[in-house]
Amino acid sequence: MKRPIYLDYNATTPVDPEVVTEMLPYLQIHYGNPSSSYSIGRSNKEAVEKARVQVARLINCQPDEICFTSCATESNNLAIKGIAWANKDKGRHIITSEIEHPAVTEVCKYLSSQGFEITYVPVDKHGRVNPDQIKDAIRPDTILITIMHANNEVGTIQPIQEIGAIARQNNIVFHTDASQSVGKIETDVDNLGVDLLTIAGHKLYAPKGIGALYIRKGTRIENLIHGANQEKGIRPGTENVIHTVALGKACEVALRDFKQNRHNIQFSRDRLLNGLVSQLGNQVHVNVDLENCLPNTLSVAFENISAHALASFISNDVLISTGSACHSGETTISSVLQAMNLDFRTAAATVRISTGKNTTAEEIDFAVEALVNAVKKLT
Ligand SMILES: Cc1ncc(COP(=O)(O)O)c(C=O)c1O
Repeated sequence: MKRPIYLDYNATTPVDPEVVTEMLPYLQIHYGNPSSSYSIGRSNKEAVEKARVQVARLINCQPDEICFTSCATESNNLAIKGIAWANKDKGRHIITSEIEHPAVTEVCKYLSSQGFEITYVPVDKHGRVNPDQIKDAIRPDTILITIMHANNEVGTIQPIQEIGAIARQNNIVFHTDASQSVGKIETDVDNLGVDLLTIAGHKLYAPKGIGALYIRKGTRIENLIHGANQEKGIRPGTENVIHTVALGKACEVALRDFKQNRHNIQFSRDRLLNGLVSQLGNQVHVNVDLENCLPNTLSVAFENISAHALASFISNDVLISTGSACHSGETTISSVLQAMNLDFRTAAATVRISTGKNTTAEEIDFAVEALVNAVKKLT
């Protein structure tokens, strides 16, 4: 067993070996520009279009509704600013939640400096948005609702279908940041009722530096960068063929292995929690409702423990992340845990443990022992 055991798959994932194999010819042999009309260009264009089909299949949309980007941050920027600029004459009000990733909240902050008004809907103690509060926040000038599918820190899954229905009834464009959910839970754009959906390659075993945005046909969107006609002119710039091929393959693998992976990530997460609870009892506090949580994510606080001390104590053996930042001895609680109204002590004691599709029972048992020993030492 290789150490340290990696249990931070919500931060990023390793590149799947099948994805690496698919990428290699595009690093070594196929260098053509997809816009060139001769054969080495055409074959790379075909590779990009094949990837578009593979991505579309995973989220159940048409291939031409997929726009490749460089990352989830770019997809979120394109979705939110793109809709804002395209609809600014219709209205300037946007609804989002208090627990979005900075790749959404910072875009909203920027837009508020440009004359848009943002409503931040609160969440309950488990980090869940109440769809009724979205409904109540709607105004005649609301042009966009953007609510993440699943939270990166605590794993809470939002009631996207219900919010989608509300958006549709009110004729408002609906975007979801699905960076954490694609590949882990179902992300069928029609079932979810979304108009735009963000995908992050490196969260689903593709490399860093590639993302995608689903844009429902008929949705008016302004591009952020201007240039030639790649990606229908919405996201110009010569295609990143290698990474696009990688994302396509990662999506194909994610769809093919969906059931097995889902089972494994949840089996590992639950084995971990059971192991911790059986040895530490009620010193373990789960921060969310596991019924509405990503199957691989465990946001857990260990009573009377500093999460930073714990994560650093075990870092040679197990890699996990914390729900707070520690600078010059001062602890700052993450905005997500704050929005959930978690008390300071619990938040400062919170770690995020996230399992991956290849996490083994042996790794989990080792991690449980490491965590339990560390908690006992640090208590
Ligand atoms: C929910 C969510 N949105 C957006 C991002 C940003 O992803 P990237 O840094 O790859 O652009 C992340 C990354 O952690 C995320 O978890």
